[in-house]
Amino acid sequence: MTADDPTWAVFKQQFDLITEISAAKTGQNRLVYSQNWVDAQTALIKFGQQAGLTVTVDDYGNVYLDFPGQDDQIIATGSHMDTVVDGGRFDGLYGVLGGLQAIINLRNQFGRPQHTLRLISFSEEEGSRFPTTFSGSKYYVHGQIVKNLTDQNGNRFDQARKAATSQLLALPQVIHERPKLPSAFTELHIEQGPRLENEHRQVGLVSGIVGQRRWQIQVQGVANHAGTTPMTQRHDGLLTAVDLIKHLHAIASELSPDLTFTVGQLNVLPNTPNVIPGKVAFSVDVRHPNNAILDAFETALNRSLTLFSASQLTCQAHRWVKDLPAKFSRQILDQNVKLTRQLGYSSIMMPSGAGHDSYVMNQAVPTAMIFVPSVKGISHAPAEFTHLEDLKTGILVLTASLQHLAYS
Ligand code: HGY
Ligand code: MN
Ligand code: MN
Repeated sequence: MTADDPTWAVFKQQFDLITEISAAKTGQNRLVYSQNWVDAQTALIKFGQQAGLTVTVDDYGNVYLDFPGQDDQIIATGSHMDTVVDGGRFDGLYGVLGGLQAIINLRNQFGRPQHTLRLISFSEEEGSRFPTTFSGSKYYVHGQIVKNLTDQNGNRFDQARKAATSQLLALPQVIHERPKLPSAFTELHIEQGPRLENEHRQVGLVSGIVGQRRWQIQVQGVANHAGTTPMTQRHDGLLTAVDLIKHLHAIASELSPDLTFTVGQLNVLPNTPNVIPGKVAFSVDVRHPNNAILDAFETALNRSLTLFSASQLTCQAHRWVKDLPAKFSRQILDQNVKLTRQLGYSSIMMPSGAGHDSYVMNQAVPTAMIFVPSVKGISHAPAEFTHLEDLKTGILVLTASLQHLAYS
């Protein structure tokens, strides 16, 4: 398939349709089980049926589009349909529609494969609506279910899941089951960092994923009157939270220059100008390729909670993500290095600083990832962008990789 092939028109049309569904003036919003999310998964199901693929949806709203092969082995590709709040257009969606395009390319060029080709659109990866990540791929791989979670508006995960998934299951010719696992999985994704652009490389062949941990920290002080409470008699939750954040940031910097430390969420209660904040909650997200560094940070964090607590002021932490560093399949990685070179593209082997559903798939099947450059390395923001030529390159490399796996 040459770069000007009309098939790109189909890919671009599908991409534009789904990004229009999810567009707000502040970026892409397709939080799991929201109506935008249902409309996007519905559009994908229709794309799959128009391409003659069979459609399966499971109880978590993962969508599986299959191009049946001659035997019962499955070669899969895919990514996640959900986004962060006010996110970019490419994170997740590129791997879903790019994976579909790669399967269509192979069908058009080589007909029926030896092994079934499967595109997976995972329901939720980001952890941006409910305090859980990878719920779709964890359900698919491990049958893991989510219990007793609510979003910031008090909506229950299970209620939202059933209401959204039932709309997908009501569509015609949709099989309702959690299908068997593939014998290999490859995820196409934007890099979400600056490395490929800085090193002028077209493709990133991903060796593995850094370890990641996330906490919800709660500082409970005493709400009181801003005007009448003497400065010496305050138990100000926000002042302590600010000091604690700076302290944790300093610990992270001292531990390792490669330890990423992010406070992305901060809630101040009652969030009123003339009230001393009583309760403050904030998130901590740390990542590093070496688990010992993450352990050292966690030990220091737990020690800080005691250090910053005082009379009528308590600091508590709830860790809700602990993902160990992961290495991907060396065999598929080496194969993709060869294929990329044969196709004439420049590439580097690199770890991923972002989490992906491949982290979960890799716990059960040989897994690989293929990155394409992100302009200025920006992601999780409306300015997230990847040039069409690079999008095409990634899909052509994925096409060659799936061909090697499914037609031999
Ligand atoms: O946060 C991450 O690393 C991923 O984009 N969910
Ligand atoms: Mn992603
Ligand atoms: Mn993301």
